[in-house]
Amino acid sequence: MSLLIKNGEIVTSDARYVADIFIEDETITRIGIDLDAPPGAEIVDATGKFIFPGFIDPHVHIYLPFMATFAKDTHETASIAALIGGTTTYIEMCCPSRLDDPLESYHLWKEKARDNSACDYAFHMGVTRWDRNTESQLRSIVADGTSSFKVFLAYKNFFGVEDGELFQTLNLGQKLGVITTAHCENAELVSRLQEALLAQGKTGPEWHEPSRPEAVEAEGTSRFAAFLELTRAQGYVVHMSCAPALEAAARAKMRGVRLAVESVLPHFLLDKRLAEQNGVEGMKYVMSPPLRDNRNQQSLWNGLRSGVIDTVGTDHCPFDLSQKNLGTDAFTQIPNGIAGIEERVSLMYTQGVIAGRIDIHRFVDALSTRAARLFGLFPRKGTIAPGSDADLVIFDPKVRGTISVKSQHTNNDYNGFEGFPFEGRASVVTVRGKIQVRDGVFVGDKSRGRFLAREPRGGSDVE
Ligand code: URP
Ligand code: ZN
Ligand code: ZN
Repeated sequence: MSLLIKNGEIVTSDARYVADIFIEDETITRIGIDLDAPPGAEIVDATGKFIFPGFIDPHVHIYLPFMATFAKDTHETASIAALIGGTTTYIEMCCPSRLDDPLESYHLWKEKARDNSACDYAFHMGVTRWDRNTESQLRSIVADGTSSFKVFLAYKNFFGVEDGELFQTLNLGQKLGVITTAHCENAELVSRLQEALLAQGKTGPEWHEPSRPEAVEAEGTSRFAAFLELTRAQGYVVHMSCAPALEAAARAKMRGVRLAVESVLPHFLLDKRLAEQNGVEGMKYVMSPPLRDNRNQQSLWNGLRSGVIDTVGTDHCPFDLSQKNLGTDAFTQIPNGIAGIEERVSLMYTQGVIAGRIDIHRFVDALSTRAARLFGLFPRKGTIAPGSDADLVIFDPKVRGTISVKSQHTNNDYNGFEGFPFEGRASVVTVRGKIQVRDGVFVGDKSRGRFLAREPRGGSDVE
């Protein structure tokens, strides 16, 4: 099987030029001018279009038992939505509750995805408690190719870990050379503030943000950074939403803490007024950390442009309206989360590159290359080079459209970005050399996706 993509403008995190790309089987084998197509090769004309490396979403939830229900997508629906949007690899959070067995959960998550994903995928392994079996279980999960952990400093008694458990996790991460990703909100403060608000009869979705104000996230971020500093582990803060947390992360980076920062699509584009609407209209926009006062958005864009924010993910986590309505009597019962895997690339291109907030190379870096580097996928993923997987996005900058639930592929009955205009969209998308999307339509193999085993970077146990 060979494929020749002609005359596209290749854009990576550090280069931009017009050339042809030749793909044999799953791999890019040649890049050059006026390449000839051997007999039988398919030719795709990319004149006037950008060719980006396949985008990587480093933070998604697909199978997720959470808040008395399950997130709505299957691996099939989420991966097709991802591909239509230009994302060719996602990293899913494997999230056992504190009561579940970690190893059994890991195999359950893997089994759910196996043969059901149209694009490639990997996992971050959630560490939600620490007992005498945890270290050996985690070592076997890392040996299986899942070389990143996830901890929640939020969600007391469910996913959340205590400080001692955080220490143990980071210590092991440091020894193995495994990066630990973290949801940074102070669980105790959230739980006390929730209790106080409910006691005052403040039950609507507009009270979700006041129950986890910016200081709660800044504290979580500072604490995580201090633990990283003292364990010498490598960490990654997920879904950063506000300036005080960003400042805490920037201070940590400046003093040499090995910390990377992710923010996610909703926090760049949406603000807390949406969650202050009455009833289910507000509940649609309940996520954690919550949507913030919109003055934070400028800080996030500045952080993204300067590189203090390393990556942009989605925290894709769809719940439908009937699930959101579980929180009618109390905002603490509203399933937290919003979808975005399908919209991230077009909306960040429109609101970031077209609007002049970030340049096109930072866009590629933040939505693909940096995640590949941080999570052990580079140079297989995250760039366009001979030897790399042929995951390519032929992106048509001339397409114009509007985000709508009516055209989405995510399995949900609303779209949090409804009505947002976009300029530019993935037109042809390949996964390891196979065309999965053509003219913006999924035409591919629903079980094309493969689990990506990743080597740890080498920690003190192996150096
Ligand atoms: O509200 C969110 N973010 N839901 C998904 C779970 C998480 O915290 O990432
Ligand atoms: Zn989270
Ligand atoms: Zn998440």
